Amino acid sequence: MKKRNKVFMDCDPGIDDCFALLLAMKHLEVVGISTVGGNTGLFNTTRNACYVVELAKRTDIPIYAGYDKPMFTKLETAEEVHGISGLGAVEIREPNKKPEKEHAIDVIIDTFMKQDDILLVTLGPLTNVAQAILKEPRLKKRIPQILCMGGSVTAGNYSPCAEFNIYADPEAAKIVFDSGIVIKMAGLNFTRQNSMIPKDVTILKNMNHDIAQFAAQLLSFSVNSDRQSELCDACAISWLIDPNIVPCSLPMHVDIETKGEFTRGMTVCDYREYIGTDPKMDIGRSVFYPVSQGVRNVVAAMEFDQDRFKKLLFDTIKSYGE
Ligand code: BDR
Ligand code: CA
Repeated sequence: MKKRNKVFMDCDPGIDDCFALLLAMKHLEVVGISTVGGNTGLFNTTRNACYVVELAKRTDIPIYAGYDKPMFTKLETAEEVHGISGLGAVEIREPNKKPEKEHAIDVIIDTFMKQDDILLVTLGPLTNVAQAILKEPRLKKRIPQILCMGGSVTAGNYSPCAEFNIYADPEAAKIVFDSGIVIKMAGLNFTRQNSMIPKDVTILKNMNHDIAQFAAQLLSFSVNSDRQSELCDACAISWLIDPNIVPCSLPMHVDIETKGEFTRGMTVCDYREYIGTDPKMDIGRSVFYPVSQGVRNVVAAMEFDQDRFKKLLFDTIKSYGE
């Protein structure tokens, strides 16, 4: 049997975070989950993580609550996208599963200082990870890789330039992106190539078991005839599960804009060396001219195999009923 990647997941569930957790719990070895204020407040994101883990009968996975707000600003949530509770219209019952007593950042430090073979996955604002690095700077050399759902090589969502997870705490994102840790960035330029549609909700509804019904309810909150859903965090984690879902990724230098009047929270991606001669084909097709760049601190996902992703997603959800 193929060895599973070990992961520690920092997240802010959130509809798409839940899908990512469901994928991860089946295909990866999840050694721990930490929560951060983001899509909704920390109380909700922690309870939602506990809820999903319990529903998946994986209460063996420890959950740790982290920071409830960004480093310097007040928390801006995305409840219009994820619902007041963070789980769309799902009626929340209080899970029996509770978070552990340790603070997330102490556990992140402890985990990565002691072990070499764990990857860090971030699906929310980068507050916990940045605070952990500030408290224990040796983490910069200890975390082998971060798979980050955040940013965009092209346009943002929260603003024209900024993606929500980076916008929510740009100062934290800057600390993480400047840390020297290799970042695999699953940004909006990549996740926008996925589109979940009403037919996908029906597929889930037709799988008669409680996880599929939960998934269908979550997805139907974000998908209707006018609106499609990218399930960003699920796309991101699929990169670790099946690298073929990302046929093209490119190393590049990325800075985080913390000050701009219109651009705060932007991932300023230097992809000049990848710009081709055909504007319709553009990024990633041919090297056009040499440019002097900063350190290539990021490998950015560029292309997405939607059919392969959806197959993985539906097969995984189905397998929870077997
Ligand atoms: C990201 O922001 C959140 O709303 C989602 O959970 C995802 O992590 C997409 O911009
Ligand atoms: Ca998220």
